[in-house]
Amino acid sequence: MFNINIDKHLNDGFAHLTHYWQNHKNGVSQYFKPYAKEYLQESILSIVEEPDQLYIPFKYDVPFPPNPNPKFKFIDLFAGIGGIRLAYQSLGGKCVFSSEWNNFAKKTYEANFGEVPFGDITQISEENIPEHDILLAGFPCQPFSIAGVSKKNALGRSHGFLDETQGTLFFDIARILKHKKPKAFMLENVKNLVSHDKGKTFKVIKNTLTELGYSIHFQVLDGKHFVPQHRERIIIVGFRTDIFGEKENFKFPTLPEPKVKIKDILEPEVESKYTLSDKLWNYLQDYAAKHKAKGNGFGFGMTDLNGISRTISARYYKDGSEIFDLGVPLRVGLSVPIFLSFRTKRISTSIPNAIQKAA
Ligand SMILES: C[S@@+](CC[C@H](N)C(=O)[O-])C[C@H]1O[C@@H](n2cnc3c(N)ncnc32)[C@H](O)[C@@H]1O
Repeated sequence: MFNINIDKHLNDGFAHLTHYWQNHKNGVSQYFKPYAKEYLQESILSIVEEPDQLYIPFKYDVPFPPNPNPKFKFIDLFAGIGGIRLAYQSLGGKCVFSSEWNNFAKKTYEANFGEVPFGDITQISEENIPEHDILLAGFPCQPFSIAGVSKKNALGRSHGFLDETQGTLFFDIARILKHKKPKAFMLENVKNLVSHDKGKTFKVIKNTLTELGYSIHFQVLDGKHFVPQHRERIIIVGFRTDIFGEKENFKFPTLPEPKVKIKDILEPEVESKYTLSDKLWNYLQDYAAKHKAKGNGFGFGMTDLNGISRTISARYYKDGSEIFDLGVPLRVGLSVPIFLSFRTKRISTSIPNAIQKAA
């Protein structure tokens, strides 16, 4: 983390600088150097003794620093907090570009990797993205997810590709693939992507990727094989046919039997902000009892700590409803970011392994 008192996340200056620092020796620094230099000189000149010496030999005090001897390069689009990056980095990959527009996610990403992602991908020209071997993108799923579609229907809004802000982001992936032609890619989305709009959405995606020159494979995988959460996601992987051709023999790995239970991942001590207060917990119990007496269904589910949770929704921070699943009766909390990164790390590690084998 850089303790510099400037806003690192609202513009791309710090993204240029941190990308430059992490890529100064691997042949892609030209993508970041000019603006990194300008930004450094304009904004934070006072922190360096010699402004021309752009590379400052930081010892990264982050949990997941860049690989010193990477085997391949990748880019991390819709980077979130970096769950997918973690998997590919742990297999010897070097991330040369990341993009994420949510400021809270950017802060977590910087805390994890010492690199600030660039912002809105729709505003980034493909020409400014460095060469890479693998493109990774867990692109937004709300336009296609069952919950997202019914909410948008209820509000009279368009969904899928017709959702103008979020639905068309797949085409940003397509334009980057077209221009940079990485050897392989891995995309992640909700399983409903396959059936959305009677299969038409997925047909467009498949045709687009194939026309771009990739052989593709897809499968719905459940996170429960690695973490105690039922979470089904479609994983789409593709390989450039002009490179791999007949030789490409990717197969999705057989996933191990689910073993991890909720109690295995709960932290013994958590800050009180992650737990319900006694007052709220009493209120909820009284409320449920009152409704039960009237024959109404309101209540709260209590998950077996020796089992797994249902899918945790992204809205947990708004109304907390999903938190009930995760051990409120025991007053134990859960650090959701850690949980989420754990989930993505583990599930996607088997895929890169399989991609490497196929290649
Ligand atoms: C499904 S999440 C990906 C999570 C990620 N794979 C991880 O491991 O944390 C999709 C992410 O895309 C981001 N996003 C949505 N629209 C974007 C845009 N136009 N430009 C950049 N990021 C965007 C969202 O803020 C969200 O964090």
